[in-house]
Amino acid sequence: MYNSKITGLGFYVPDNIVTNSDLEKVMDTNDEWIQERTGIKERHWIPKGSDETTATMGAEAAKIAIERAGLTNNDIDFIVFATLSPDYYFPGCGVQIQEMLDMKTIGAIDIRNQCSGFIYALSTADQFIKTGMYKNILVIGSEYHSNGLDKTTRGRGVSVIFGDGAGACILSRTEDDKKGILSSHLHSEGKYAEELVVISPSIKHWVPEIIDSNGKDISYFPYMNGTFVFKNAIVRFSEVIKEALTANELAVTDIDLFIPHQANLRISQFVQHKLKLRDDQIYNNIMNYGNTTAASIIIALTEAWEMGKIKDDDIVLLAAFGSGFTWGSVIIRW
Ligand code: COA
Repeated sequence: MYNSKITGLGFYVPDNIVTNSDLEKVMDTNDEWIQERTGIKERHWIPKGSDETTATMGAEAAKIAIERAGLTNNDIDFIVFATLSPDYYFPGCGVQIQEMLDMKTIGAIDIRNQCSGFIYALSTADQFIKTGMYKNILVIGSEYHSNGLDKTTRGRGVSVIFGDGAGACILSRTEDDKKGILSSHLHSEGKYAEELVVISPSIKHWVPEIIDSNGKDISYFPYMNGTFVFKNAIVRFSEVIKEALTANELAVTDIDLFIPHQANLRISQFVQHKLKLRDDQIYNNIMNYGNTTAASIIIALTEAWEMGKIKDDDIVLLAAFGSGFTWGSVIIRW
């Protein structure tokens, strides 16, 4: 069995910044409400008419991660791409990365686990490295939410929260069995699938039915039972973090940096207080990016690393909760 460690990190967000006051111009909302309930000040949204997509943003983040790992595109053995907003219904974005980065005909898979997408993607890549099948895997989380949001007062409870962006890392084989990914824990509870969901277009509810409804059917916009999601998130985050710490015989005080999925600053703060983590043990950046779903952890991890917040031998904890419901955690010794 081999271990896997992160050898390169990168992220990319579109230039266009949308502040809370910008949103006030298109819907009945206000900066105070958004900041108080979510912590978000601004997010990046791909502007209308741009050629950027989930795949192109993922490719930009990937280029940075590959270069920082000291590798070339041809050194990558496999692609794992996490997103809920793929460019096509099918095929997935992973194959687009193979083409965009002019890689060999390596394998590529897409992971559809929404806000837990990056945790699932990292865990999947880790298994391929552990078994010895691959040496260098490109793991991407990318989301293009803005084109699919209801940007009217009707959709304000959801649309103010989400942002566009991508992050990527290279997971590489290491012979050092003390370093790298120590564990991953993954969970799901499908009975709550419709509490945070985009119903259509799906094969059981296809495009003609939406058109025939003359605008009444808005099931192509995300629906979120915000209060219910919040309550479940704080419980599951805490559970899966404890599960990870116990499995590694670590204490909360051993955590050098906790990077929670950036769902909502209030969720992160609740979990921080419940675990009694100091401010310097947690990194949040939802204020500037909103919730970028499968991209949020890898964007935050990259930003924290760029700021020098992660040092050799540090214990880094990643955890996420989201639609599915799905949740999970990864512990890394850097
Ligand atoms: N601006 C202004 N008012 C808004 C608003 C907005 N963007 N969105 C909703 N409101 C209003 C509602 O219409 C409601 O008004 P009413 O009392 O007159 O009916 C009021 O604010 C309270 O709405 P509610 O949904 O009960 O607020 P909340 O305190 O539960 O906060 C969330 C809403 C979405 C911020 C909160 O539920 C949450 O954070 N949930 C978790 C979401 C999350 O993390 N999702 C990602 C999961 S991975």
